[in-house]
Amino acid sequence: MDGFVPTKARAFFFNPKSSNFNKSPYKTYSVMRESYPSHYLGNTLILTRYNDISQCLNEPSLVTSGIINKLIHEFDKKNVELSEINRSMLRDLILFQEGDAFAKHRKSLMTPLTGIWIEKFRGLINVEIDLLVSQIQALDNRNEVNIIEMLIKPLWVNLFSAWLGFSQTDKDALHAEVKNIRLLLDPSSITLDGLLNLKEALSNLDTLFKRNYSDHQKGSSKGIFYEALHHGNTEYTARDYTLDAIACFIGGTETVVAVIANTLLLLAQWPEEQRKIRSDAKLLRNTLAESMRMETPAQMTKRTANTDFQLGGTLIKKGDDVVLCLASGNRDEQIFADPDKFDITRKNSSKHLAFTAGRYQCVGRALGQYITEIACEKMLSGFNFIKLAAGHEVIWQRESLIMRMPSSLVLDLT
Ligand code: HEM
Repeated sequence: MDGFVPTKARAFFFNPKSSNFNKSPYKTYSVMRESYPSHYLGNTLILTRYNDISQCLNEPSLVTSGIINKLIHEFDKKNVELSEINRSMLRDLILFQEGDAFAKHRKSLMTPLTGIWIEKFRGLINVEIDLLVSQIQALDNRNEVNIIEMLIKPLWVNLFSAWLGFSQTDKDALHAEVKNIRLLLDPSSITLDGLLNLKEALSNLDTLFKRNYSDHQKGSSKGIFYEALHHGNTEYTARDYTLDAIACFIGGTETVVAVIANTLLLLAQWPEEQRKIRSDAKLLRNTLAESMRMETPAQMTKRTANTDFQLGGTLIKKGDDVVLCLASGNRDEQIFADPDKFDITRKNSSKHLAFTAGRYQCVGRALGQYITEIACEKMLSGFNFIKLAAGHEVIWQRESLIMRMPSSLVLDLT
């Protein structure tokens, strides 16, 4: 791609920080897919077409972009002292890494995140979601329900705490860390305060999870997560447990709740589709897939080229960063007919890229799908109809450049 951008296209220029892009990124993506499908900004290539993104997700020359190393570098640059324990914890976290620790933890996490161990978690998931839904049902006035505060915000921490068998005190401590770990999920805007908060969060989480591990060893705590990970594996240490717990806590923190918030929003905006699912519960799985296609929670991910390689007509050079715009691929008209339509009977919704593909793809996919399906099913059966409350605007969050979810969503659930 040469650097020339016609004036007319400037209005659509790729700038995730702009407020217009935040309100509606899809117009920009559509222009980029059409006219600038592989667009270089400095050494960073922005890809917006489904087939290019899919190819890159499976391309061995594209490796993780070293988010954690960059973060450690920022700690050093800003003279924020990291203890050796925190430093090595960061290095061995499964999130966006390479090497032996990455492979080992990815493998061990497959146990709690799939199959019978998810089934064993089912009862607790039901209890936690029922509790939150019943609190909404008990409200005197349900025509202005702030669903973010009442369901979305508490949900993941409550579920995660139940999974680990946490006490109420530990659960409260975990709630306090949600905001502080944000840089690990989205390092797009690193500030000194963000780094200081992350440093403290790492120490607090280390203490919390190590204590939880030791409670399990003594038999004074009983959690499915520990049971699954320790099952038959006597070499599994407190440190392994802490790293796995941190990776899962971060992995599910904003994604799970974004899927639920976005699905409730879409069902409210598309009443005909809501009627369809209300009369055919079998459409639930496809509804969630279609929601992740329409409003993709993690809008983009990044890789770095470790050798020169050719992508179609574009030469990607060693060291170049490649931004894969998952949200754009999910609206690619070459793959999804009438892509801006929320259609819960669409035949190929499950081809969405919201969990990516290849070796870094989301390890919590099955659990994420499971939880979001149960939550949406309970919201549908718990209320006659899900509508947007009159006079309330939907506001998309802006703290993260990557995540797509409303920061304010007020529903009429009468
Ligand atoms: C349903 C909601 C979820 C969505 C949409 C989602 C999406 C994603 C995405 C896009 C990635 C990055 C993949 C890449 O760059 O190629 C990712 C990675 C990851 N996710 Fe999820 N996720 C969800 C739920 C979960 C849950 C429930 C967990 C764990 C309990 C989890 C754990 C992880 C971990 C540990 C990684 C890092 C994997 C690695 O670096 O190898 N996710 N997820």
